[in-house]
Amino acid sequence: MPFFSAILSCLDANSIAEKDPEIFSAILSCLENDSIAEKTRWNMELNEILKKRRMVRNYTDEPVETAAIERIIQAGRRAPSAGFTQGQSFVVVTDKEIRQEIATLAGEVSYVEAGFDPWISKAPVHVIVCVNEQDYHRRYREADKAPDGDMVWPVPYWWVDAGASMMLVLLAAIDEGLAAGFLGVHSIPDLKELLAIPDEVEPIGVITIGHPAPDRKSGSLKRGWRSDAEIKHWQRWNSTGEGE
Ligand SMILES: Cc1cc2nc3c(=O)[nH]c(=O)nc-3n(C[C@H](O)[C@H](O)[C@H](O)COP(=O)(O)O)c2cc1C
Repeated sequence: MPFFSAILSCLDANSIAEKDPEIFSAILSCLENDSIAEKTRWNMELNEILKKRRMVRNYTDEPVETAAIERIIQAGRRAPSAGFTQGQSFVVVTDKEIRQEIATLAGEVSYVEAGFDPWISKAPVHVIVCVNEQDYHRRYREADKAPDGDMVWPVPYWWVDAGASMMLVLLAAIDEGLAAGFLGVHSIPDLKELLAIPDEVEPIGVITIGHPAPDRKSGSLKRGWRSDAEIKHWQRWNSTGEGE
């Protein structure tokens, strides 16, 4: 048994992961393809998942089991959708060559030049979250909605629903003991052509999923979190209501 595996098997892997996710992922990346990742299928409480939620931009070579991918997609499906339209859909890519092509389209070269790992092509799983706007127009012309014509859309609900699915996929990946990231692909037409996505359907971006490896963090994080006072408003925007 490899050295670190022997140590980890004597310890509570969950508590190491909680206390220091970075050290834990560094240890994991030192391990050979043994059973540690399988043993640590956490099924965490939501608040634990939220503490761990961050975009991870590097992965080990270890593949992700198909059953875990299926569970993650099922989680994505549990998102709400306006009028229960369910306009969201998912393209799962595990094929190495297609992942490489997605990485090229997403400008992986620029990430590497900026000091990041080639995290897009290295991620063993890509999930492309898609949404079909026309499904919403069709749904909202049904009898129980606005049968006299298409409604005015003060908020484009299709993007809301796609974002909700994206979030659930990110969280479900963590629940599987994996890590995930999200990136925009600027040339949506090229991505659609590569993945044979129908005209009506729009991909919102790529979720990378894999076993975490030590990664470089985004420079954007230097901005720090905005304060509660800036983002939280009780009763009305400028009131001195409850909670202040
Ligand atoms: C809509 C959206 C688009 C994003 N696009 C990219 C991207 O193209 N490349 C990237 O590295 N990160 C991307 N991110 C990740 C953000 O940079 C990241 O969420 C933010 O810096 C906060 O870091 P955290 O998610 O690790 O807490 C995107 C996130 C969102 C929600």
